[in-house]
Amino acid sequence: MNWWLPPQASTFAPTIDSMFTWILIITGITFVLVEVGLIWFVIAYRGRPGRKAFYTHGNTRAEVIWTAIPAVTMVILGLASNGLWVKIKGRHSVPADAYPIGVHAKQFEWWLTYPGADGKLGRVSPELVSKANPTGLDTTDAASHDDLVIRNQLHVPVGRPVVVYLTSEDVIHSFYVPQFRVRQDAVPGMEIRVWFEATVPGKYELGCSQLCGMGHYKMRAQVFVHTQAEYDAWLQQAVQAKGAPTT
Ligand code: CUA
Repeated sequence: MNWWLPPQASTFAPTIDSMFTWILIITGITFVLVEVGLIWFVIAYRGRPGRKAFYTHGNTRAEVIWTAIPAVTMVILGLASNGLWVKIKGRHSVPADAYPIGVHAKQFEWWLTYPGADGKLGRVSPELVSKANPTGLDTTDAASHDDLVIRNQLHVPVGRPVVVYLTSEDVIHSFYVPQFRVRQDAVPGMEIRVWFEATVPGKYELGCSQLCGMGHYKMRAQVFVHTQAEYDAWLQQAVQAKGAPTT
C-alpha cells in the first residue's frame, strides 16, 4: 500500500511506511467517527419551536472512555515507534563502518564534502568559511588534504551505510531525501550526524524542508545512488577534475 508515497530507496523506507500507514488508518477511523458523531449531534439537537435549552454536566463514564482510548492508543504508538526511532535517530544508531560525507547547508545551496582516498573527512571550522573555502575545511588537518568539496551534488554508494555530518552556516535548514525517508534539521553551531543506507541505484533529489528564506524553493541538490564500483570511479574522476589535492 505505498503507490501514493515516493518510491522506497533506503533500508528505513518499508518500516517508516508501515508506521505511517498504521497511524493514518487509526487517525482516519477516529476522524470519521468524531465527524459523524458531531454531525449527528448537530442535527439531533438543533433548535426547534418549543424546545428549550437545558443544562447538563455531561457523562463522567463517557468522558473517561474517550480520554482513556486515545491515551492508550498514543502510548502503544509511542512504544511501537520507539524501536524505529532508536534505530534511525538514536544516540548510538550510526553503524561503525558508515561512510562519512559532510553536508554543509547555507542560503541557498548544499556543499558536499567527500573523504577521498583516506576515507576520513577533514576537520571543519566555521571561522574558516570563505568564498574560496565554502565549508570551512581546516587544511592543517592531514585528513582534509584529499577531501573533495562540490556543490549541490550528493553521490552515495548503494548498499552501504552512509553517515552525513550536517552543518549550517546561517539559519536552520533541513536535509530531506523523500525516497530515503530521512530528514534532519541543520542547525547553526551544531554538527549533527544522520545516517541512511540507500538500496536502489538511481537519481533522486535532496530538498531543504525548512523555510529558510526567499530562495528556499530553489535550495536543492541532485542525489546519485551508485554501485560501489561506479561510485569509486566517479570519486576518482571528480578528484582528478578538481586538480591536485590542496596541501
Ligand atoms: Cu534551506 Cu529551506
